[in-house]
Amino acid sequence: MTDEWVLILDFGSQYTRLIAKAIRAQGVYCEVAPPTLSAREVRERGPRALVLSGGPRSVYEPDAPRLGPDVLKLGIPVLGICYGMQLLAQLLGGRVERSSRKAEYGVAEIEIVEDDPLFLGLGRRGRVWMSHGDVIAELPPGFRALAYSAGEPPLLAAMRDEPGRIYGVQFHPEVHHTPHGPRMLHNWLRRICGLRERWRPGDLVQPKVEELRAQLEGKRALIAVSGGVDSSVAAVLVHRAIGDRLVPVFVDTGLLRKGEPERVRRVFERLGLPLRTVDAKREFFEKLRGVTDPEGKRKAIGETFIRVFEREARRLEREEPLDVLVQGTIYSDVIESGGAGTAHGAETIKSHHNVGGLPAQLGFELVEPLREFFKDEVRELGRALGLPEEIVDEPPFPGPGLAVRILGEVTPEKVALLQEADAILREEIQRAKLHREIWQYFAVLLPVRSVAVRGDGRGYGYVVALRAVHSRDGMTADWYKIPHGVLERISSRITNEVPPITRVVYDITSKPPGTIEWE
Ligand code: XMP
Repeated sequence: MTDEWVLILDFGSQYTRLIAKAIRAQGVYCEVAPPTLSAREVRERGPRALVLSGGPRSVYEPDAPRLGPDVLKLGIPVLGICYGMQLLAQLLGGRVERSSRKAEYGVAEIEIVEDDPLFLGLGRRGRVWMSHGDVIAELPPGFRALAYSAGEPPLLAAMRDEPGRIYGVQFHPEVHHTPHGPRMLHNWLRRICGLRERWRPGDLVQPKVEELRAQLEGKRALIAVSGGVDSSVAAVLVHRAIGDRLVPVFVDTGLLRKGEPERVRRVFERLGLPLRTVDAKREFFEKLRGVTDPEGKRKAIGETFIRVFEREARRLEREEPLDVLVQGTIYSDVIESGGAGTAHGAETIKSHHNVGGLPAQLGFELVEPLREFFKDEVRELGRALGLPEEIVDEPPFPGPGLAVRILGEVTPEKVALLQEADAILREEIQRAKLHREIWQYFAVLLPVRSVAVRGDGRGYGYVVALRAVHSRDGMTADWYKIPHGVLERISSRITNEVPPITRVVYDITSKPPGTIEWE
């Protein structure tokens, strides 16, 4: 990989992932590890610098997470953020106490009191994001104050030791509410730690391929491909390493968008990876019969998926033994499920966002080549591997597919109606050249019937809701303002071309409180 990388010890902050993202955005590779690593383990891993993350605890609590003894004696540059800074202060002989001033949460203003490389290119004052109740009441011997937050009394906001090897900041440079955070991280990485290389995710393709080739020597592997970015990139990467010893399997659940199974097959064919398609539509619809509860649907789909995939795996195994299951798990999955090792076991990922859950019972060795990459990096890897844009830039699509966009019971007839309406929406959004601008957009089939005029009489027809949102990461979202002319065309095309649908409504709810999907 690269020698010039940074290790982040995670003391349980909700922002640890953002630190990793912000450092990688500066072109420096980094990884997150549990804070319990010993000095020897850190040395063996060989990072060029260390970040101590924030965390929810107070350093003076008896069971608060600590730094391994002697880690600070390794002689590599250290940056402590929030809890990390307080830990440094306490370990090195300073004093930390509960703030007499109200805890600082949110945007604060700091005043820089010392010319320091960390703040190069910045003014004397600046906005930062604070989130702490404890303060450093006394600097450790040999440390100097670099910045204070404005207010009475002023609170220490940044410090460093005399040689400039150990830094601490009380605020969070990694969140976007600290506008000059990237500049400070750049200064720290490039000027203070002296890192020179410019790392890019695409640089990892070749080493990763070689690593996989060695790891999978003489083995046969299986992967479930969905057409989404993660599984596609994982499949192409492993295919580069072991060629046709990778068997990509595509399960057609019947719950994908119109034309999607054919498109996925076509794309993979072009990439030289013909897919083994399993047509399991019937089985999925059977399991979904009578199920109206959203979580019930997700469960039925998850279980059916595992059963179908396992059956296929056994069938393939009879042809030739299989050793490995490849999965497209990415870094955020690892962190969100607490797998990167946090002090407090970060919140567990919402069950329904974790599709599949394939591995354990299949009894194969599990290989996850994308474990250390963020979504944007996976997209970049995909580009470097020559995957087409239609896969690399694909907006998110939920694992349970259209089943959670049909409120109430899912039937093949309803799926067919929704597929048509959704295809019209997609066509018109693309025609209006809005597809790159809108984060996610789709149609939802509602479980109510509404009165419609049909010829001379009245009847009842289906109602479809259009949903379009703007978002960064799916955690919050704003409804997207599709121009009225485009909405009009979508509505009239849907009611004309899909006669059972007689009413089209537009969802104008943001998240929160509404979620992006309707179920
Ligand atoms: P919500 O509806 O929770 O969605 O605001 C946030 C993002 O997650 C996607 N989503 C899912 N993805 N399985 C998935 O793989 C699911 O069950 C699921 N439910 C929601 C949703 O499309 C949006 O991008």
